[in-house]
Amino acid sequence: MKQPQYIGTTDPTLAAGDEPASNVSPNAYFGDILDARVSRRALLRGSLAAAMAGAMATTLPFGRVLAAGTDVPAPSLGFKAIPVSAADSVVVPEGYRVQAFIPWGTPISGDMPAFSLDTSGEDQAQQIGSHHDGMHFFPLDGSSRDGLLVLNHEYVEPRYLHGAARGLALDSEGFPQHEDGSRDRDQVLKELNAHGVSIVRVRQGADGHWQVVEDAHNRRITGLTPMRLAGPVAGTEHVVTKFSPDGSMTRGTLNNCSSGVTPWNTYLTAEENWAGYFANEDPEIDRRQARYGIQTRDTGRYQWHRAAGGADETRRFDASSRGASAREDYRNEPHAFGYMVEIDPMDPQSTPVKRTHLGRFAHEGVIFAPAVEGQPVVCYSGDDSRFEYIYKFVSARPFHAASADGSLLDEGTLYVARFNEDGSGEWLALAPGKHGLTPENGFTDLADILVNTRSAADHVGATKMDRPEWGAVDPVTGQVYFTLTNNTRREPGQEDAANPRSDNGFGHIIRWQEDGSHAGTRFAWDLFMLGGDREHGRNLAGDTLSEDAIFASPDGLWIDPDCRVWIQTDISESVMNNGIFDVFGNNQMLAANPETGEIKRFLTGPVGQEITGIAMTPDQRTMFVNVQHPGATTDAEAFAAGDFASHWPEGGDAIPRSATLVITREDGGIVGA
Ligand code: FEO
Ligand code: CA
Ligand code: CA
Repeated sequence: MKQPQYIGTTDPTLAAGDEPASNVSPNAYFGDILDARVSRRALLRGSLAAAMAGAMATTLPFGRVLAAGTDVPAPSLGFKAIPVSAADSVVVPEGYRVQAFIPWGTPISGDMPAFSLDTSGEDQAQQIGSHHDGMHFFPLDGSSRDGLLVLNHEYVEPRYLHGAARGLALDSEGFPQHEDGSRDRDQVLKELNAHGVSIVRVRQGADGHWQVVEDAHNRRITGLTPMRLAGPVAGTEHVVTKFSPDGSMTRGTLNNCSSGVTPWNTYLTAEENWAGYFANEDPEIDRRQARYGIQTRDTGRYQWHRAAGGADETRRFDASSRGASAREDYRNEPHAFGYMVEIDPMDPQSTPVKRTHLGRFAHEGVIFAPAVEGQPVVCYSGDDSRFEYIYKFVSARPFHAASADGSLLDEGTLYVARFNEDGSGEWLALAPGKHGLTPENGFTDLADILVNTRSAADHVGATKMDRPEWGAVDPVTGQVYFTLTNNTRREPGQEDAANPRSDNGFGHIIRWQEDGSHAGTRFAWDLFMLGGDREHGRNLAGDTLSEDAIFASPDGLWIDPDCRVWIQTDISESVMNNGIFDVFGNNQMLAANPETGEIKRFLTGPVGQEITGIAMTPDQRTMFVNVQHPGATTDAEAFAAGDFASHWPEGGDAIPRSATLVITREDGGIVGA
């Protein structure tokens, strides 16, 4: 078929960094609460400066050392901070080495098809996917030089994926499309297979360089891989489809943003902005889809439902009620997305499992509290959309290392966080009969609550946050950190001297300490940092940020075994290197001391990308970091002219490709120390 005659772009609200705001409930905004605290202190102390300092000075009712019950020293940040950068390159501190590794299209399995823009959709299922994100290193036999690197592929830019797209006027959301609105079938297959997760064995050679090893573990999990549903939603009417009349199975995982590793050494991949992929032409759309941003529309993010040939595996992205019953169409297909998906990288034959008891929302990722023998398993997950919530799951059964497995995540209680003005907080159970979650109020049973997690959280009065992204747990104190990346829809007009964070473009980081164990229902919280420029950013002491520390839109977050807090930024491609964001340069990674709040810039990335995804070998001598969507800032005209904003990592006139960075020290020391 001749192609393309015209070029499609879907609803701009479906764009990558632009999660649709779909929370219309009247709950308090986190910003209001924060501002109230700052305001109260400003009145007491009489100035904005004092108010900011007061808000930032830690008021958690425990010291870092006291909480641990032991005098653990704060971690060193021994590297020399680097300046911001707008260059099309990766910069790391003096004494560090960086290697670009496994870019999109790298062959890892099957007949190892070589990278080319013209490889087929089937080839893509044997190659590293695109848009690298959350990641973990699983050592083989405890090695720090040999292991399985498991990483997410959040989405694709079709213009960089297909040879046939070269020369077309496509922006970062555009895709080739036939005149009748249909799409080339193999292009759609390639896009589906460039999503999902890669499992690849990697090994460090004697020269210090890391290489892909051909291995039976190497595997792609994609937007087409059969998956089992588990937990309370599995087997219910909510997830009955033509593909799975008993509601036990679905196909594929999509928009896999961050990830987590379980205490039993499996990988959990998050389904974040999955809602955008679905069309639905039904005149009435219920809360199971509407509350997640699916509206009446004939478009999906990439128009996969319009793939030529109309195969079942692509038609399912049309969630309209077209058959006589749910068993004859895909009206319920979106109800099988929005979960945390468990993958066992050590068993290449294993079927991924969607763990429905962890809730259904735009999961950014998941972070487990350190598992304690005989105690419940606890994990935290944020819903990354404007004004959405932070959740926690507590297992019903206790953890026993010898027998623990994913079934622990199928029984327990899902909670949502309420942050009170006085610095206290509480976890509200999303369970039948709790906090008004009753049939009379429209919540039939546990499966109904979980499929409608957002609506249930609205009902119980959770606190609306400024886009919760990654979480991390300090291994010494147990304090839980979450990034709140930004929220520019917090309305102007709410600002006053004590409320400087309305129209929150720069984001901030919150942390809390549970009352008692991680399974508790009360906590104390405060702010760790406010992102911003020299004027607006604040560190833990309430001081302004130095040139070496300014950052905006914190997203990726990880605390290493020495308690360094690693912060990765995702300033949206629509604003990066422009206006008030110009001073931050390209997206970057910093390290912070959780005790003193000292923060230093460690890495800057190439043009148009975000830094996201972080993992380390057990000896902390090798760090892996992802570079996602370099060149995304290329506009449609420049793309048509072959004038890409980035040519990273190959350079020259190459197309930009997402890739993993391998970071080591020249002296072989601990990264960051
Ligand atoms: Fe995929 Fe919320 O970042
Ligand atoms: Ca993210
Ligand atoms: Ca983000």
